[in-house]
This record gives sequence, C-alpha cells and structure tokens, in this order.
Amino acid sequence: MAVHGSEDGLRFAVLGPVQAWRDGTELDLGTPLQRSILAMLLLRESRAVTPAEMIDAVWGEDAPPRALGALRTYVSRLRAVLEPGRSPRTRPELLISVGRGYALRLTGGVLDLTLFDRGLQEAEAARRAGDRAGAAESLRASLALCTGEPLAGAVGPYAEHQRDRLVERRMSVLETLMDLDLELGRHAHVVSELIALTADHPLRERLRAQLMLAYYRCGRQADALATFADTRAALIEELGIEPGPGLTALHQRILTGDPSLAPASLPAADPVRLAPADPPEPARPPETAEPGAGAPELPRPAQLPAAVNDFTGRRQIIARLCTLLSTQGGADGVPVAAISGIGGVGKTTLAVHVAHTLHDLFPDGQLYADLRGYGEEPVAPESVLAAFLRALGLPADIIPDGLAERSALFRSLLTDRRMLVLLDNARDAAQVSHLLPGSTGCAAMVTSRGKLADLAAARLVDLDVMEPDEALTLFGTVAGAERVAAERAAAMDVVAACGFLPLAVRIVAARLAARASWTVASLVPRLADERRRLDEMRVGNLAVEATFALGYGQLSPAQARAFRLLSLPGGPDISAGAASALLALNPTDTEDILESLVDASLLEAPAPGRYRFHDLLKLFARRTGERAEA
Ligand SMILES: Nc1ncnc2c1ncn2[C@@H]1O[C@H](COP(=O)(O)OP(=O)(O)O)[C@@H](O)[C@H]1O
Ligand SMILES: [Mg+2]
Repeated sequence: MAVHGSEDGLRFAVLGPVQAWRDGTELDLGTPLQRSILAMLLLRESRAVTPAEMIDAVWGEDAPPRALGALRTYVSRLRAVLEPGRSPRTRPELLISVGRGYALRLTGGVLDLTLFDRGLQEAEAARRAGDRAGAAESLRASLALCTGEPLAGAVGPYAEHQRDRLVERRMSVLETLMDLDLELGRHAHVVSELIALTADHPLRERLRAQLMLAYYRCGRQADALATFADTRAALIEELGIEPGPGLTALHQRILTGDPSLAPASLPAADPVRLAPADPPEPARPPETAEPGAGAPELPRPAQLPAAVNDFTGRRQIIARLCTLLSTQGGADGVPVAAISGIGGVGKTTLAVHVAHTLHDLFPDGQLYADLRGYGEEPVAPESVLAAFLRALGLPADIIPDGLAERSALFRSLLTDRRMLVLLDNARDAAQVSHLLPGSTGCAAMVTSRGKLADLAAARLVDLDVMEPDEALTLFGTVAGAERVAAERAAAMDVVAACGFLPLAVRIVAARLAARASWTVASLVPRLADERRRLDEMRVGNLAVEATFALGYGQLSPAQARAFRLLSLPGGPDISAGAASALLALNPTDTEDILESLVDASLLEAPAPGRYRFHDLLKLFARRTGERAEA
C-alpha cells in the first residue's frame, strides 16, 4: 500500500496535526478556527456542510454574532491557499459552494484517513484469505499514518467529538494488530509494546488480556498473573468494577495451565488437504502439531460480523452467557444459548459482542449465519450447512446432498475442534437443530424473536429492553455525553419515548449528533408529533416507528430515495457495487450515500463494502416506499 500517497498535488492529514501539502511543501492553514473548518470539510469527505453546521461545529454555544461573516472569510482564505493561481472570476474547483453550503472535492488517496481505511480493508481481505501476516502488515501501515493526537490544532465541539472517535478507532486497530501478532506466534516480540500500551491505557481490558497471554506464552506465568492483579486493582480503584468475564476467564485458564492457550499451529493458510470421504484426524492438540506435518490443517473461518465499538451495558447477561458457553452443558455436552427478545432489542449485537469476547476460547474459528427467520424467505438449513462446509474447506463438488448427510459431515468435521457457531434470526427450533455442533469443544448461540423452548439442550436467555441508565449512556455515546450531562431530564424523556429499545435510541441519538445546534429537549415534541402523524395512519409499534420516521425525516431527497430503493432486494445484505447499479449512481456518490445512511444509523455496515438493513428498518423502508408511490 502506498501509505504516503503521491508527492504531487495536494495531500491532507487529520490523523495527527491538521496539515496540508502541495507537491511536498506544507501549506499555511492559518488560525485554529480556519484549520477547524478545513478539518470538518475533510472529514465530511466531499459531502456538503451548511454554514449553520459549521458554526455549530466550530464555535458551539459560543458563536459570536458575526460568526457567519467570519466563516465566509475563512472559506475564502482557504480557497486562496488551496488554489493560489485561481483568478477571482473563475469558479473554485476544490472548495466548492453547494447550495448555501460548502464541500471539499477530494480525489481518492489524498487524505491520510482514506489511506488508513484502505489499509483496514486490505487487512480484512488478507485475513479472509487466511494471510494473517499480510493482514498485520496492512494494519501496521495504517497505524504508521497516525502521527500524533488526531486533529491537533483544530478546535470546537465537532473536532473534539471526532478526535475521540479517531483515538478510539486507532486503539481498536492496535488491539486487532496485537491479536494478529499473538496468533502469528510473535508473543516475545509484542510483550514490550503491550507493556507500554497498557501503561498508557491501564483500563483497557483487551490490551491487558493480550499482555497476559503474551507473558504466558513466553513462559512468564507469574508476570501474567501479576498483570491480572494489577488490572483488577486499577478497575476497582478507578471505576469500582470487577474485571469483565473475558479477562476473568483468561485468568482462570492461566491458573490451570489450560493447554489451549498455547499458540496455535501455523500457518493456517496452508492449502486444504481434505480427503472427500475421510473426515480429518483431530488437528489438536496444536502444541504438538508441527507445521506442515501430521494432521491436515483446516481453514479457520472468522465469519463474525464486526462488533459495535460503542457497545453499552448488559454486563450481567454477558457474564451469564460467557459462563454458559465456556462450561459444558446440555444432554450431549455442547453448550447452546438461545437468546430471545423483540426486534431491535440488541440480540445480534449482544451475541456478536460475546462471540468476540470469547474469541480465545474458540481458537478454531467462528461460523456465522443469518437464518432470516423473520423475512419472507427463511434460509433452508441445507443451504446454511453447505455454506459452513465450504467455509471449513470442503470443495463444493463433494458436499453431499441431503440435510442429514450434510449435518453428519458438519458434525464430524467439528470433532475435536473448538469452534463457536452463531445462528442469527432463527425462525424456530426445526430450522437450527441440524446446525448445532455435536462435540464438546464447540458451542453455539442462537438468536430469535420467540423463545425456542423446544430446542433440546439449549439454555434460554431472555433479552429485555435496556435499563434506563444504559439507554441514557448509549444515547450519550452517540449524541455526545456532554449534551446528556447538560440536559439529563430531557434525555431521559427521549430514551423513554424510544421505549428504551437500543435500535430506536441509536437512531434518535444519531439524528441529534448531526445537529450541533439542537437541544435534547427539542427532540421530545418532534417525537410526539411523529407519533401523532403515524397514529393517523395506524401503524404498528408507535414508539419505534416514530423514531424511524424521525431519522428518515432528516434525509435529503437523494438519501431518502436510496433508503427506500435499497430495501427492495431480497438478500441478507448488499454490496456497494450492487447498490450503485440499483441507485443508478457512480461508485463515489453511491458510497457517500451509503455511508451517510450508516451515519444516520438507518443502515448497518457489517463488513467493509457490505451494507444491510435491520429487519425492522427494512420493513419501514419498504412501507415508506409504497406510501411514496401511492
Ligand atoms: N448493548 C448495546 N450497545 C450499543 N448498541 C446496541 C446495543 N444493543 C443494541 N444496540 C444497537 O441497537 C440496534 C439494534 O440491535 P440488534 O442487535 O440489531 O437488535 P436485534 O438483533 O435484537 O433485532 C443496533 O444498531 C445496535 O447497534
Ligand atoms: Mg438481529
């Protein structure tokens, strides 16, 4: 990856100080306010920003009466810096006027953040192809672009908020890189890096867990245990809480010298060597298996959707699920947790979060399938099995035909392996019973709207809406904690109007996040209005639909059209390419629109370049489309 972009033309940086260069020479971007305006335009990635948004972003509550005039001055100075040769009579080509607002026209690769994202995409592609060393290299290239405090030199509420986001993203990439390095057997190499990182971020449990594991694999069990003790002391002292279930489980396993903590055998990207009618011999235990010798190496599927980076609350239920899945249960010994709850309550998010938390417990990988039990076409178990078998390295032409045969082969392939299977959106027990692993090293989670009471051996876990405080925290994480702090009572009214349903809370909070000038209190009458309007049309769940309508109401006509059209295809998700064809837009405009819908929380991005609707929003989008046509 050409991380530094080209030396010709313009380049911009936001991952450290806000800077710009032309042909390698740094440009003078002027005062902090002027830099902040440029930073906002850069982060909006060619999307237009209105003057009001800019004023809110840069000055916040303290906008002077002449802010608009000042803003125009800054814009014209920026234009002069960016296009020095332009005569006053020709139209600007970079910092252009769009309606009453402004947008910065960038071509790909001139902003460091774009290159950063590209590195992450390359890493993801490499990881999917089984090339973990390549994935680690791409992540390192992305991290090399982070040259200091992000957005240094920019001021105002928008920059603060974005800075927090960028810091968090960098941290989570670092953590992923540490995981990869550990998987690659580089434990000795990462110890010192992890010592420095945990010193800077003492409360990040994932880093602490990585350090514990690295010590352990270097034969430094005492240091691993001392790290746990330090972490626990720090968490209790700073936050008054105990370490989370992931860290506690790791501690336990280090104490007992669990052999599965040893580094996995490498390389996993070896070509698959599988005899058709002959299920492989156990690939375990890894510590004795030498690379390239002995048991055949199976691919290690990693099919989980991305975890949300602002996961909130649910501590007790997480602890319960972690315990349940890490201990053998049920008649045939495989732990199965069946999570039920209404749409939008957070079942998928919770299951994915727990699956990532328990990553180390299932070193042979994770299988994921959306069974679409609530759509028009629930997926047949045979097709899910075919997909799982392919993910386990079975060539398509030797996958047997019947359900029973596929299921038997699936189970025998999982024998002696430690995998987690996540079955999302199950319709009923019949749809999942053949998809459950049969051997004790594996575990499964199933989510569904209704209780799967007749699923033999499953432990039933009911997921309810959030506690008011959790909902408030989620609202604050998305909309800005300082706003909730300033208007706590109004914020509580808003999350109550959302029925404490996380899906609704997130949409309303995203709407507020896009409007720096709105107060939290101004949302309350808006929600009431939507409810009244919907009532006249007699729709289903008013609290939730009103929040959808509020989110939808903020969209530009082009975004609203895309939102409605994208709901029409039947599949579980849609690629950026297919969306571009459906919307009849070029790839750049399509991506802008898709990403803006993700920003509004009306669309999800489970993996780079893939987009999907929450099923309730898909229904809403289709109905809105029908009404728009009628
Ligand atoms: N604990 C949580 N923390 C943060 N966001 C959450 C949480 N639970 C749910 N959400 C958000 O709520 C929305 C709906 O959650 P989802 O898991 O898709 O619901 P379900 O699967 O029950 O229909 C998602 O946008 C998700 O990001
Ligand atoms: Mg779901």
